[in-house]
Amino acid sequence: MTQTQAQKMTERVTPIMIGRPVDRVDGPAKTTGAAPFSTDYPLVNMAYAALTYATITRGHILAIDTSAAAARPGVLAVITHLNAPAMKPPPRQNMMNLASLAPGTSVNYLNTDEVHFNGQPVALVVAESIEAAAEGAALIDVRYQASPATVDFAAEQPNAVPQKNTMAQAGSAKKGDAEAALAAAPVSVDATYTTPQHQHNAIEPHATTAQWDGDQLTVYDGVQNIDWTRKHLAQRFDVPVGGVRVISRFVGGAFGGKTMVWAGTVLTALAAWVVQRPVRMTLTREGVYRTVGGRTPTIQRVALGAGCDGHLTSLIHASIAQVGRVGGGPEQVTSVSQDMYAVPNMAIQQSNVTMDAVPNTVMRAPGEAIGTFALESAVDELAVALGMDPIELRMLNEPLAGPLQGKAFAHRHLREAYAVGAEDFGWRHRTPQPGSMRDGRHLVGQGVASAWHPSWQFQANVTVSMSASGEVLVRCGFHEMGMGGATAQAQITSDLLGVPFDAVTVSYGDSELPLGPGAGGSGQTASVAASLLTACGKLKERLLSLAKDSKASPLRGHPLSDLEARDGGLFVGDSTAGESYPAIMRRAGRQTVQEAVGSESRVGSLLLQARFMTKFLNDKRHWIKAACGAQFCEVRVDADTAEIRISRWLGVFDVGTVINAKTAASQLRGGIVMGIGMALSEQTLVDPHTGRIANPSLSEYYIPVHADVPRIDVRYLNHPDPTMPLGLVGVGEVGITGTGAAVANAIYHATGKRVRDLPITLDKLL
Ligand code: MOS
Repeated sequence: MTQTQAQKMTERVTPIMIGRPVDRVDGPAKTTGAAPFSTDYPLVNMAYAALTYATITRGHILAIDTSAAAARPGVLAVITHLNAPAMKPPPRQNMMNLASLAPGTSVNYLNTDEVHFNGQPVALVVAESIEAAAEGAALIDVRYQASPATVDFAAEQPNAVPQKNTMAQAGSAKKGDAEAALAAAPVSVDATYTTPQHQHNAIEPHATTAQWDGDQLTVYDGVQNIDWTRKHLAQRFDVPVGGVRVISRFVGGAFGGKTMVWAGTVLTALAAWVVQRPVRMTLTREGVYRTVGGRTPTIQRVALGAGCDGHLTSLIHASIAQVGRVGGGPEQVTSVSQDMYAVPNMAIQQSNVTMDAVPNTVMRAPGEAIGTFALESAVDELAVALGMDPIELRMLNEPLAGPLQGKAFAHRHLREAYAVGAEDFGWRHRTPQPGSMRDGRHLVGQGVASAWHPSWQFQANVTVSMSASGEVLVRCGFHEMGMGGATAQAQITSDLLGVPFDAVTVSYGDSELPLGPGAGGSGQTASVAASLLTACGKLKERLLSLAKDSKASPLRGHPLSDLEARDGGLFVGDSTAGESYPAIMRRAGRQTVQEAVGSESRVGSLLLQARFMTKFLNDKRHWIKAACGAQFCEVRVDADTAEIRISRWLGVFDVGTVINAKTAASQLRGGIVMGIGMALSEQTLVDPHTGRIANPSLSEYYIPVHADVPRIDVRYLNHPDPTMPLGLVGVGEVGITGTGAAVANAIYHATGKRVRDLPITLDKLL
């Protein structure tokens, strides 16, 4: 905070809220259990549903015996492809049409005898209790005819197909002759890095409560995109979009796993239609693994060539990832490599193999999280080959403009992030020789890596209204998954209007509200903030024009640019001449004043969204917009057992303006925690013969627990991005980028062993 800001705060009755570590407004509701999640709505006459999952990977159903399930007391209905009401098939995915991205898979569940992936739902049991539904689902006997399937990712490499460009990423890019420059480079690294499939493990499993009233559908579901969910359900059940209401007040974590619409949501609505009662279905943890996509596995080649002085001459990044035969888009594995280093020769290529599996989906920094593992490991390997400090090597190759097309960076303060981080972490005390920092039985290692994640913005319709007493209500159908979105928007509104933080209420999580952005691409906060800036500006203009109607108003004759919004009203400069909002409204005889941005229409406008995206993408043709950071990791490796413990972490981030110092730090820290899981323990084990996930539970798929997570220090630089609303660029995903490499580089420093295959389990060090 600057000194003038600090001085102002002492003068103002309403303090500046942006930047403060404000507690989340939903904190008390969550800690007391009052916050309603999707299965907390106590509807009358509720029934419960459970799924039976296919045990083959590809083929069709020959026979299905539901008699035992139907006879189980309490079972109300057993729904299979033999008796399910017809649903419309999902739309084909099209990367240029955002709304078509909604289906997690293209399978018309229970409307087909075909099986497309191991775990596909083949029966749905509805019952009076959760137990009866689950037992019923277990009693269903299915006979299949299996057909050949593609399930072995490693064996499929020769069949990888080069990827086309999409809205989010280039499938390939080229500059100069990277192979020739690599061959001619006096110092080079050319290595293959592999990362496994990962599954989504939000604490709240996918869960839905659905109720039909005639052909009106109400769905309570923890989702990341209310609009996509509503449109998808309307399309599948062939009802008007306005007839589907999605309520998503709280979401117990999502990380990308609740962006698309998966089987559980669609089939809960189907079950409710069949029994004509409200139905609730909470997927088991296994159910989430079977029916919700995860992160693609990858095989990545990164090759770097450099002069003896450390200047890069060549960068090659080629990745092979997987997509599903029934859905799943390519992930931007190589995108960070295109922006990261000044290099005259570059070759980028993404390829994909098509697999018979539940399709992959977005997961926190999809592509970037694992792509930076390969790139930033290779940079560390090059530093070793050059005998150069890895931070010095990165600083030497910092680009002044985008290395591929010469686009300007909207802002980029990576040098400062490393400088601040090196000082705080004590990097100068590090001795470069591997194994040289032993502490008793532990080999101590310290590694760094760069973090990088692009900034996104989406269309956000917002209304802001003020009551006669000066209370403000912000309405926008955005999503609260634990990040503190409503708190941040209340802080922003408080500052824009100069009203107390407590006078602002933010309403979100309901399709009855003006259409909000999806919670994805780290873009939700910036998207809503952009519309709030406009809406609050219009509201102040409206209030000023009401005031100016009266000769008595001290605001008369002043344009808005002369005025400050503070202390619950408008004031001339920093003088006491001014009027409170309630005084203005009382004299004008107004009970409420409201302004809106975008369409008020609850059905939403595809045209508005498309127009917004075109404008945003056009803007991205001129600017590279991203959050970045420097990750510092210290590990301790047991010299005898090779047990790896992370002992210290510091992340220094350039995320533009920080709206809430507490929740932003939590987001970044959460990204690092998830990155620690990626680095050391998380992997989906897929049987290469059957394509079945072999570890569909938290007792066999290891996410970090508290004992695995050290103290994580997070700092940020707070330089506003001049091209983004309020200068903010989003904090949701950048925290996980670079984490895998920071750990791998620290482990190399500790042990002298370079592990290029995630997760780095101790057997790889022995
Ligand atoms: Mo995300 S992977 O943008 O939730």
